[in-house]
Amino acid sequence: MQLAGKTALITGAARGIGRAFAAAYLREGARVAIADIDAARAEATADALGEDAIAIRMDVTDQTSIDDAVRNTVDRFGQIDILINNAALFTASPIVEIERADYARVFDINVAGTLFTTQAVARHMIARGGRGKIINMASQAGRRGEPLVAVYCATKAAVISLTQSAGLDLIKHGINVNAISPGVVDGEHWDGVDAFFAKHEHKAPGQKKREVGAAVPFGRMGTPDDLTGMAVFLASDAANYIVAQTYNVDGGQWMS
Ligand SMILES: NC(=O)c1ccc[n+]([C@@H]2O[C@H](COP(=O)([O-])OP(=O)(O)OC[C@H]3O[C@@H](n4cnc5c(N)ncnc54)[C@H](O)[C@@H]3O)[C@@H](O)[C@H]2O)c1
Repeated sequence: MQLAGKTALITGAARGIGRAFAAAYLREGARVAIADIDAARAEATADALGEDAIAIRMDVTDQTSIDDAVRNTVDRFGQIDILINNAALFTASPIVEIERADYARVFDINVAGTLFTTQAVARHMIARGGRGKIINMASQAGRRGEPLVAVYCATKAAVISLTQSAGLDLIKHGINVNAISPGVVDGEHWDGVDAFFAKHEHKAPGQKKREVGAAVPFGRMGTPDDLTGMAVFLASDAANYIVAQTYNVDGGQWMS
């Protein structure tokens, strides 16, 4: 029960990695707001995870929605101790086909969403006297470019940079900002990635997934549950002296 008595707001928690984080935090004794643009799925997830989970409709690209989500979570739980900026959008395209609207949308969710949700929650944490944990979801895609994934890679590089700046700025309030950098994590997100590469690299459905899994030194793709240990640790008091870091949790992929 490393998070007993704590409350967490997790964006994009209706499915995938965010849902696994919510389940892990609940197991550790926290209460969790499952915030997602997909309100129906957030409701279903919260119902499935039990009475200490609530669903919040939240669009991280809309400032009013961010402010409402923070206020609604505080109304229900009294305060927010932990934020995970997990919501993101993956798109891929050759450089010569990138469209401005797609670029703007992906940056709006992945970068502006992370920054302005951090800002809203940090203001709340500071107003109640400081202390708190903010965890951003980066990616190996933020550590190096990829030929067909320029925009998403750039957003995740920006998330690593924001983690450093916000971490250095907010620690004076006792707020730790750190990030997790996964490698390849199976789930609905990767079903879409696999379909994209099937089209652009003329692979059979499922082939890209098999290839990336085989390339991980651990021997397989990650699962959302492979990431929960780091998410619990970074939210716990054991991480109080950790500031502005981005941790690879990737089965050794970045080192390979
Ligand atoms: N799956 C991977 O291989 C992988 C690898 C590295 C990093 N990541 C990162 O981990 C995080 C979670 O990934 P995932 O695979 O679970 O993704 P996912 O696509 O399965 O889930 C993303 C969630 O975010 C929600 N969302 C999208 N736009 C939103 C918005 N504007 N406001 C609020 N919610 C919104 C979606 O409805 C969805 O529930 C993301 O930040 C992703 O970039 C994933």
